[in-house]
Amino acid sequence: MPRQPLDDTALDTVFRKARTHYGFRPEPIEEATLRELYDLLKWGPTSMNCQPARYVFVVSDEGKSRLIPALSEGNRDKAHEAPVTVIVAIDTRFYEHMPTLFPSSPNARERFAENPDKASDTACRNGTLQGAYLIVAARMLGLDVGPMSGFDNDMIDEEFFPDGRYKSNFLVNLGVGEPQSQRPRGPRLAFEEVAEVV
Ligand SMILES: Cc1cc2nc3c(=O)[nH]c(=O)nc-3n(C[C@H](O)[C@H](O)[C@H](O)COP(=O)(O)O)c2cc1C
Repeated sequence: MPRQPLDDTALDTVFRKARTHYGFRPEPIEEATLRELYDLLKWGPTSMNCQPARYVFVVSDEGKSRLIPALSEGNRDKAHEAPVTVIVAIDTRFYEHMPTLFPSSPNARERFAENPDKASDTACRNGTLQGAYLIVAARMLGLDVGPMSGFDNDMIDEEFFPDGRYKSNFLVNLGVGEPQSQRPRGPRLAFEEVAEVV
């Protein structure tokens, strides 16, 4: 079968014309849309199907008032305007689900539990991938995104994950973006600068 790439509209929507947004229209996002978003992003692959990412969709004024003090000053207005700010976190004990998620490897849970470095690397790698799937899935569903890493992880973790099991990774503002809030598009490195074919 010849390969069948998506059409230009799809590629533009997800990558080529998609921009990071810093300002958002005051239009709420229904919980049904957030569920649709998760139901799409969840199909992105993770090693041993481990799915370590956890998500807190902060939509309420009360939630935002708990979130915003932890953000760097330059990020506060963005999170205030965005109808949704997602805390993309990782579950440090993600491996407890392994018997269900990857039953073909019956010892996976114990092997991760006995090797904290391996568990941490796996959670970080795959949890970040899942955050990227969230960005791509949101764009495919017609939402605009603004990821943010400028915040105090410890403050977010104390406020939202006080038992210490989940750790924040990064944040993603979601909504309908205001195009005039965009910055000039930054250049991307050329293939020759970043890749080799051996
Ligand atoms: C993980 C991540 C963290 C980011 N953190 C911040 C941030 O804290 N504040 C901010 O203004 N922009 C932040 N950005 C936005 C990037 O600078 C922006 O996505 C990048 O320059 C590409 O812009 P473009 O999509 O418009 O081409 C972040 C982006 C990513 C992917």
